[in-house]
Amino acid sequence: MRNTVSIALTFLALLIIHVQARTDPRQCTTSCGDIHNIGYPFRLRGDPSHCGDPDYELYCDANNRTILNFHAGLYYVKRISYADRVIRLVDVNLATGNCGLPYRSLGIEEVLGDGRYNRKYSSPHASFVRCSVEINSMRNNIVPCLSGNTSRVYVNYTDYMLYYLDIPRSCSVFAMALSGGSDDPKVNLPTSYDDIRRKLQLGFDLTWTVECRDCLADGGYCQFLTEERNRFRCSKEEDYATQLRNAILYLAAVFVIGMTILCRYILAPLVVFNFILHKCCSKRNRIEQ
Ligand SMILES: *[C@@H]1O[C@H](CO)[C@@H](O)[C@H](O)[C@H]1NC(C)=O
Ligand SMILES: *[C@@H]1O[C@H](CO)[C@@H](O)[C@H](O)[C@H]1NC(C)=O
Ligand SMILES: *[C@@H]1O[C@H](CO)[C@@H](O)[C@H](O)[C@H]1NC(C)=O
Repeated sequence: MRNTVSIALTFLALLIIHVQARTDPRQCTTSCGDIHNIGYPFRLRGDPSHCGDPDYELYCDANNRTILNFHAGLYYVKRISYADRVIRLVDVNLATGNCGLPYRSLGIEEVLGDGRYNRKYSSPHASFVRCSVEINSMRNNIVPCLSGNTSRVYVNYTDYMLYYLDIPRSCSVFAMALSGGSDDPKVNLPTSYDDIRRKLQLGFDLTWTVECRDCLADGGYCQFLTEERNRFRCSKEEDYATQLRNAILYLAAVFVIGMTILCRYILAPLVVFNFILHKCCSKRNRIEQ
């Protein structure tokens, strides 16, 4: 009896907690510092669960700066544009404009592999390159605060991924930072370290793709149709199995129809013709005899 009562009470308590969670009367916070338009899919940490999407959580730090934690990198949110689904982010280290590395290295593959965000594969970014010898052709791109007597650090700003053949043999890329919009004009790519530093300070754009995130969660993958942002098809592995089965069925149907036509219009008349010919010839033979 006592057990039944305690189970009933526990159940009641859970029910009340559940109902309370669902009817949390608190409003969603829409503003933090300079960002006044926080809304779906974004949410602020600590807000009621009905606000935004947990995969797009931001937080407001002690200095009222809106921060996104993406794969353990920390980025200030500079702008959110719902019309074109673009969020502009700045790495917290690079935002100071001082000489140094990003808080965490971030390459384009990491963004594309995530599903929540998208950006053109070929878009501007900085590659930090460490070399064991001095590279004369990159002397304008030396990162002074990271270069010592035994190793030199350069930064190379490109709108394509550096292939290992693109950099001298004594160098290797050890950190990356995305920069600018996806479609920044080629002519504006900065060339000296000071210009690159200033460019990185302005941050980079990502588009968000809730549907692609859902597609990935559903076991599919996003097939971006064009380089155009956000235009993609959700494909699934089983699509291939279905396509294969349909192709086999189609070939089988074509084969059956082909055989039918062959039998009905070619073989059958041939048989009849052969029969007539045979009859005719044997008659002639008989007549000749
Ligand atoms: C942050 O914003 C809140 C609300 O606008 C304000 O009360 C608080 O003083 C701000 N804190 C700082 C450090 O600016
Ligand atoms: C680097 O080389 C310079 C000149 O050769 C020397 O004065 C300096 O102490 C060296 N620094 C380090 C960290 O080895
Ligand atoms: C980056 O590296 C490529 C290949 O070595 C080079 O052509 C280009 O000039 C470099 N850009 C900068 C800004 O250093």
